[in-house]
Amino acid sequence: MVRLENLTKEYDLPPIKGRPAQVVAADRVNLQIADGEIYGFVGPNGAGKTTTLKMICGLLVPTSGSVEVQGIDVEHRPEDAQQFIGYLADFFSLYDDMKVWEYLDYFARAYKMPAEKIPARVTEVIARVGLESKRDAFIQGLSRGMKQRLGIARAVLHNPPVLVLDEPASGLDPKARVELKDLLKNLNREGKTILISSHVLSDLEEICTSVAIMEMGHLLRAGKLSSVMEQSATEKAAQRRIRIRVAGAGEQLMGWLSGRAGVSEAQASSKGPLGSSSVDFLFAGNDAALAGLVRDLVMAGAPVCGVEGSAESFEQIYARFSGGEVM
Ligand SMILES: Nc1ncnc2c1ncn2[C@@H]1O[C@H](COP(=O)(O)OP(=O)(O)OP(=O)(O)O)[C@@H](O)[C@H]1O
Ligand SMILES: [Mg+2]
Repeated sequence: MVRLENLTKEYDLPPIKGRPAQVVAADRVNLQIADGEIYGFVGPNGAGKTTTLKMICGLLVPTSGSVEVQGIDVEHRPEDAQQFIGYLADFFSLYDDMKVWEYLDYFARAYKMPAEKIPARVTEVIARVGLESKRDAFIQGLSRGMKQRLGIARAVLHNPPVLVLDEPASGLDPKARVELKDLLKNLNREGKTILISSHVLSDLEEICTSVAIMEMGHLLRAGKLSSVMEQSATEKAAQRRIRIRVAGAGEQLMGWLSGRAGVSEAQASSKGPLGSSSVDFLFAGNDAALAGLVRDLVMAGAPVCGVEGSAESFEQIYARFSGGEVM
């Protein structure tokens, strides 16, 4: 079981007009992933997928909230938790001048596996990902799909029950995608819980049991694939998430926003005494309506210092995710 509780990550940005600035890359994310699932994380660039996956693997410390993997608190016992996790980063480097088996042998040693068990384990994982014919090949001569499979071989070396794969299908041709899906399905059948991210829902819907749709650090939808699809299809208004930042307290901005047409689910996030605060809300309306809202806020004296918004409504994003578009 992987459990995310109010998992939040804020990154510091260069100060804006001398004031500290942050981006909330993951905002109070709550999620439970049962053993045996293939759980897809979907969202556009900057949604917070990589940030969330890195926090799950103990590679990034949350600003607040927590992650538990197999009952272990990842922030406090990262090394214990990592025994249970195999991670494949979105951009990972392989050592070009090593042979496939040498690379795995090297990592098996780095993982401090008992020396006498390493050769058999290396042979086993090479077979597991279908790279037998490339065992003695130099990594620089592998295709992208083969490199991706070698990355997965490295992630499963220590036989972890949970695999976290950040966009493993990115850059693969259709044939390599099918091979990757088959590999993941097989690993899942053998008992691995798999967390996997992609920009495109259609990439994942065939293999995922559940899916989390993220945008701007928020979890928009999460759950069994069929129920997320159903919920999205019945979404009424075309709404998008907007974040307005003010130099000052967010509560006042909440006051200004309350009762405004098209605004719902407003939530303030508090910042330090010198920092700006921001309010996130769902907005039903076009760009002209949003411009009108911002103008009214400024006219009312709100010290607006930033407006961020998704260019797309959730429905548009959903349509793109589910439209079978290839990256
Ligand atoms: N090290 C960092 N410092 C500052 N901001 C960061 C850092 N890493 C990520 N961010 C910001 O956090 C937000 C989420 O980024 P993240 O990489 O988690 O998104 P993603 O969903 O993985 O995107 P992509 O699909 O492009 O991989 C973005 O606004 C990004 O600019
Ligand atoms: Mg990413």
